[in-house]
Amino acid sequence: MKARMIGLGSYLPKRVLTNQDLEKMVDTTDEWIVSRTGMKERRIANLNEFPSDMGAQAAKIALERANIKAEEIEMILVATMSPDYLSPSTATLIQSKLEAYQAAAMDIQAACTGFLYGLSVAKAYIESGLYRTILLVAAEKMSAFLDYQDRSTCILFGDGAAAAVISSQGKGLQIDTVRLGADGTLSELLMIPGGGSRHPTTVETVNQKFQYFRMKGNEVFKHAVRRMSTAVKECLDLAGLEETDVSWLVPHQANERIIDAIAKQFSIPEEKVYKTVHKYGNTSASSIAIALDELSQEQSFKTGEHVLLVAFGAGLTWGASVLTKVIM
Ligand code: ACO
Repeated sequence: MKARMIGLGSYLPKRVLTNQDLEKMVDTTDEWIVSRTGMKERRIANLNEFPSDMGAQAAKIALERANIKAEEIEMILVATMSPDYLSPSTATLIQSKLEAYQAAAMDIQAACTGFLYGLSVAKAYIESGLYRTILLVAAEKMSAFLDYQDRSTCILFGDGAAAAVISSQGKGLQIDTVRLGADGTLSELLMIPGGGSRHPTTVETVNQKFQYFRMKGNEVFKHAVRRMSTAVKECLDLAGLEETDVSWLVPHQANERIIDAIAKQFSIPEEKVYKTVHKYGNTSASSIAIALDELSQEQSFKTGEHVLLVAFGAGLTWGASVLTKVIM
């Protein structure tokens, strides 16, 4: 028995923040942002819109496409690094919004790699026989953790959510292999230092801007390319596939230069690499899931086609996964 995604959905907030808007907020230019990242605009949630709201919207679409009722979900997994609250989990809030009261619910924190970590958990649950129907949601409101006076981070991120119904049966994208990794010795390269038990919020931590995301971007860049390359290689080996077997590459959308470097290394032609980075920026855990949903709406995958996912994020964490289109 193999786990497969039988329905996908995504939700993007309506508000658009362009590079031209950012030029008015910090010392940056459209030219710098486009040439260094490939980003032109990103979506920003409104003040009353949170990861649980965006995640529930995406989940409703995924459930409808999968033809699954909320009461059939047995487990809700939510990948997020910008949860509504530290506790309770965003997964429980989504359970309540969907009225999926039969479902257990928990969050997964693996930053931008969260969707792949979630896929691995869902695959293990389903293939062990513990659950038959799982809702995996990725939902991020990164804008709540950005310092819009810090040009090195605020230009990079956007908000949004996506969801996948993962089941033991039905047609869709079978989760063939997932390869994950982490290196906690480099945790200080990307972090939100405040708000946890180490630095509970005080006037002092707020003055020091501990509540905001910080990143040593150029150091992260080098690790991102190296770790994602290794993850792709190991994942393809595990699946018994060659790079020429990949029909689509759906990478984490952190930076177009990183995406292009990975595609080049594995000789994957440009037209087979799916990008949303220009219009949504980096939506952290949601990024691969949003891209996969949009690709699957634009393309009808052929039976046997392989989709390669790869991601990298804070932790450090990284991972890759091979999905294969199946019809029964
Ligand atoms: N506009 C203009 N100049 C800027 C901006 C800006 N928005 N931001 C930084 N600069 C300046 C810097 O101050 C620096 O100036 P200096 O040379 O005078 O000191 C110069 O541009 C170069 O800065 P770098 O940080 O070296 O620029 P780089 O080319 O590395 O690009 C970037 C920065 C886009 C952040 C890149 O390093 C990157 O994409 N890193 C990887 C990010 C990533 O993969 N994250 C994944 C996970 S995210 C997560 O887990 C939530």
